Amino acid sequence: MPDCPLKHIAFIMDGNGRWAKKRHLPRELGHKAGAEVFDKIVNYCYDIGISAVTVYAFSTENWKRPQKEIDAIFNLFSYYIDHYVEKMRNKKVRFVFIGDRTPFSDSLKKRMSDIEKATEPNSQMILFVGINYGGRNEICHAVNELIAQGKTNITEEDISNNVYTHVYSDPDLIVRTGGEYRLSNFLIWQSAYSELYFTDTLWPDMTGADVDLAIEEFKKRDRRYGGV
Ligand code: IPE
Ligand code: IPE
Ligand code: MG
Repeated sequence: MPDCPLKHIAFIMDGNGRWAKKRHLPRELGHKAGAEVFDKIVNYCYDIGISAVTVYAFSTENWKRPQKEIDAIFNLFSYYIDHYVEKMRNKKVRFVFIGDRTPFSDSLKKRMSDIEKATEPNSQMILFVGINYGGRNEICHAVNELIAQGKTNITEEDISNNVYTHVYSDPDLIVRTGGEYRLSNFLIWQSAYSELYFTDTLWPDMTGADVDLAIEEFKKRDRRYGGV
């Protein structure tokens, strides 16, 4: 495995709708193209030796979209979680779904937790998939867990230990495609000291070479963490 300058990379996979619009296609086909690129990019990160990848697939705010689009995204998600896990079987990738599963059907919840349990021993790479994920929702969830445990003086460490990604360190680099310069409620706790990289490339156009560009930029950053 090659030496990699970072451990954890996160992607805000934005621009599927505009990619489709440019081609006079329905937005749903943009999401389909985006799902295919997700596969390529995760495998690229794996090949270059990144240990953790987090992707933002559906936010707690994305329920505002037309039902037809929401259904298309969840159909893709449902298809991918089985086929993709099967495809990655030999790669020793651990899957962790991050986000609020409350609105999901019991059968989807079960499939998600079965995948997590089955892949838990895998240690080559960890893949966090944000589905109905929102950073504010996550912090509230963590605080409620702590209250349920009877904690009173909640520390930063307590919150870090109770966010959905608690099994791995915070992302070193967050990449947002699609030309918007914001986090849109993604990893707002974990991103305190992440490096941010924005590209105009629309997610379905993303390639390994674009990942390399982001990593090259990351290598130039001086991470001081408040020090000198
Ligand atoms: C990102 O692409 C995928 C999701 C938010 C589900 P968009 O669908 O937001 O694409 P644009 O931003 O409209 O182009
Ligand atoms: C962020 O993209 C959410 C995902 C990529 C899943 P959005 O397209 O929803 O974000 P905004 O609306 O531009 O902030
Ligand atoms: Mg968008």
